[in-house]
Amino acid sequence: MRSLVVGGAGFIGSHLVELLAQRGPVTVLDDLSVGRRDFIRGPLESGQAELVVGTALDLDLVARLTAGADLVVHLAANPEARWGLEDTRRDLDQGTITTYNVLEAMRRTKAPALVFSSSGTVYGENPEPCGELDLGLLPISLYGASKLASEAMISAFSECFGLRATICRFGNVVGPRGTHGAALDFFRKLEKTPAELEVLGDGSQAKPYLHVTDCAAGLLFAFDNQKEKLGIYNLAPPDTTSVRSIAERCVAASPYPNAKIRYTGGDRGWPGDVPRSRMKPDKLAALGFRVRHTSDDAVDLAIRALAREVFGDRAGG
Ligand SMILES: NC(=O)c1ccc[n+]([C@@H]2O[C@H](COP(=O)([O-])OP(=O)(O)OC[C@H]3O[C@@H](n4cnc5c(N)ncnc54)[C@H](O)[C@@H]3O)[C@@H](O)[C@H]2O)c1
Repeated sequence: MRSLVVGGAGFIGSHLVELLAQRGPVTVLDDLSVGRRDFIRGPLESGQAELVVGTALDLDLVARLTAGADLVVHLAANPEARWGLEDTRRDLDQGTITTYNVLEAMRRTKAPALVFSSSGTVYGENPEPCGELDLGLLPISLYGASKLASEAMISAFSECFGLRATICRFGNVVGPRGTHGAALDFFRKLEKTPAELEVLGDGSQAKPYLHVTDCAAGLLFAFDNQKEKLGIYNLAPPDTTSVRSIAERCVAASPYPNAKIRYTGGDRGWPGDVPRSRMKPDKLAALGFRVRHTSDDAVDLAIRALAREVFGDRAGG
């Protein structure tokens, strides 16, 4: 199977490329705005993968690469929901337009199958556990809006042009080679101000955290086992972890275990942040997939791995 992974040199992409490389040649298209060549060094050096440095905003380039691909995975996006507050075009371009380009390139070149990385942010501010059909509340971030717009376009291209498409809505993904997210943010802040860790919000925010190995395995499981032309799946553990507990664990895993945690207050980190979210993993479970790590375990594993990446031998217990 020949695969193209758009955004494949990033956090999730680099784990997925390792799995896809076992099935056949992989081409990675990445502008390296966030991702790193080093993240996919193994598959590149073994000749199982090739990296094309370029942007998915270039439709002709994307079409050259979708030609002949059996599977296209689209992972490129604005990685941080709150960056949309500083530049309101960012999610439109990096999220929605790149998705259009991938779909149009696939239509032109008759590439048969797409896997897309969506997010639980499509459920908006809904504190109840959400199943795939619980879309009554709309997204409250520009990032979530770009994901829902992308999903709608994928549905339309699937129906109109016969594309087989798999959409997975992830919880918060954590693990080695993380490029963003709360734990990395906390570690960077601790390096700057070792005596105090500032945490946005009151710490009570709680979300499902998905280990990146479960994310990569779940994406391929959904693709392999989907029966319908368009499959939409939550990919997240059913439980959640609070920001307070992540902050406490990050302080303990850092070289600064005596740092005081200061909460800025308020129920959320920034406008558009959904303070509490839960996702029902039942649909993927019915097909036979269960995540290996609970939310708390995923966070623990990720914090230990990231502490080693950021602090090396200085990482705490
Ligand atoms: N990490 C999470 O918690 C999470 C949660 C839900 C959904 N997702 C989605 O999963 C996907 C992958 O996320 P990630 O955490 O690996 O982020 P990431 O930033 O590490 O990976 C995205 C990759 O896309 C590349 N990229 C960005 N814009 C590009 C463009 N225009 N052309 C080519 N390459 C481009 C970046 O350089 C990066 O390597 C994204 O679509 C993200 O929205 C992530």
